[in-house]
Amino acid sequence: MRVPLIAGNWKMYKTAAEAEAFVLAFLPLVSGVRGVEIVLAPPYPSIGAVALLVRGSGIGVASQNVHYADEGAFTGEVSIRMLQEAGATHCIIGHSERRQYFAESDDAVNRKVRATLAAGLTPILCVGETDPEREGGKTFDVVGRQLAGGTKEIPASMGSRVVVAYEPVWAIGTGKTATPAQAQEVHAFLRGRLKELWGGAADAVRILYGGSVKPDNIAALMANEDIDGALVGGASLSPGSFAKIVTFH
Ligand code: 13P
Repeated sequence: MRVPLIAGNWKMYKTAAEAEAFVLAFLPLVSGVRGVEIVLAPPYPSIGAVALLVRGSGIGVASQNVHYADEGAFTGEVSIRMLQEAGATHCIIGHSERRQYFAESDDAVNRKVRATLAAGLTPILCVGETDPEREGGKTFDVVGRQLAGGTKEIPASMGSRVVVAYEPVWAIGTGKTATPAQAQEVHAFLRGRLKELWGGAADAVRILYGGSVKPDNIAALMANEDIDGALVGGASLSPGSFAKIVTFH
């Protein structure tokens, strides 16, 4: 049985003061929630403050990126140990905005996923096709390649700790959600690929859907066999709407 995971990716929104105000308003709204893992992904400068405020609540804290090296001369980058010390439990890796604007390759994504697993944090590996790729019938090629690239050299023994997020680029921030059937089709494909790679461990992998998830479409998405949670952007920025999403059932 997979425990649903719902993560809010705040992207480059919210100062530390705004992040703290969010958490203070959000905690009472979700204090009775059981059976779903909640994760907040603030920008780097707020990770420590958010982690302190959610301590003891069971809510996880994710970074939106990470560097794969232990330490070194990598100006502007942040290491896993720094994130761990600040209280991060998860790392979002290979988000389409990182691939598109910061030229992140499948190889870099793979290094980050492996380093995160080795350190004991949970990677949230993102995959997803663009609009022209979907229109050109290339969805499975693209997400299959990104999944294979991101999971390269990761043994089955670690496989169940990986979280995968399917985020069709055309659905991100556009209000154009994939239909539950479109999402389920890709999630089933991804789980099939993970089974070829890791066998039974693939049954424990949470596959999240991301792309214009809102309080009014979360339940229909979650009703599908292979949709195990959501990676929410815009609708995670308000405590009220994100609380409605995590209490979908
Ligand atoms: P939106 O929910 O704003 O479409 O963003 C999705 C996303 O990119 C989450 O990582």
